[in-house]
Amino acid sequence: MSKLLFIIIGFILIFILFYRQYLLKKMNEELNEKIKIEIKKNEEKTRISIQQSRMASMGEMLENIAHQWRQPLSTISVAASGIEIKKELNILNDEELSDSLKHIKNATQYLSNTIDDFRNFFVKDKIPSNINIRNTLNKTIDLMSSTLAKEEITLIRNIQNINFTSYENELIQVLMNIFINAKDALANRKSEKLIIVVIKQIEDNLVIKIKDNAGGVDSSIIDKIFEPYFTTKHQFNGTGIGLYMSKLIVEKHLIGEISVKNIDFIFNSKTYRGALFELVLPLNITNNK
Ligand SMILES: Nc1ncnc2c1ncn2[C@@H]1O[C@H](COP(=O)(O)OP(=O)(O)O)[C@@H](O)[C@H]1O
Ligand SMILES: [Mg+2]
Repeated sequence: MSKLLFIIIGFILIFILFYRQYLLKKMNEELNEKIKIEIKKNEEKTRISIQQSRMASMGEMLENIAHQWRQPLSTISVAASGIEIKKELNILNDEELSDSLKHIKNATQYLSNTIDDFRNFFVKDKIPSNINIRNTLNKTIDLMSSTLAKEEITLIRNIQNINFTSYENELIQVLMNIFINAKDALANRKSEKLIIVVIKQIEDNLVIKIKDNAGGVDSSIIDKIFEPYFTTKHQFNGTGIGLYMSKLIVEKHLIGEISVKNIDFIFNSKTYRGALFELVLPLNITNNK
């Protein structure tokens, strides 16, 4: 009798053990499923952020391109009307015709080049390439030149001639974000708006320092500015994604670091205060992988 009881209890215990195991397994599976869903949601959020940030810089660039296009478009139009009128009046000579056509060809070439620059920017680099930092900075500034001129911002450069290996388009995107932010911050200043760029090689790194004289980032929020959706700007001016994306690109793709601090500095014997963004990038990205 007691033997039977013993066996029954034994069975019950084994059953409980298996059932527990089964429950644990099930809970684990459910948890895994939940984690997967969360990861998916997060990926989707990041994807949307990347998209939004690209759209924001695209808007900025379109404005610049529209501005850059005005001159060559008017050259084409003036040259074409000139030919037309002279032909009607029968006073068009061969030399003038070929001259005007040359102007038209040059202007169209220029338009076509700006389209290429613009399109290249939106194609993600697949492999790192050899780049020259002066060239990269010039490309970035070209994409923003009319914005800087319109806002009457003086850009000062002190740049070593350095060649290195990295993802150029992604670096341009980061630089643009920093410049656009500096431009936004400088909108509060009435005059003497400065952006100062200093680029040096320090050991195996390229160090890019970009500062402005807009007064700096409020100390109560400076720790938050790289967070997603953090913005102090008005609903339609700020998305809070620019610096978040920049940090992501710098750390994950360019294998570097980005940081910010406020500094006081002297320029042309005047003292100013502003934000200083510092990028530290490896000279050869492939060595760091
Ligand atoms: N150069 C700067 N000077 C002062 N504040 C800055 C500067 N750059 C960034 N910031 C602050 O960091 C915040 C986040 O920037 P960002 O991520 O680019 O988002 P957004 O530009 O859409 O606001 C800005 O809203 C601003 O408060
Ligand atoms: Mg921004």
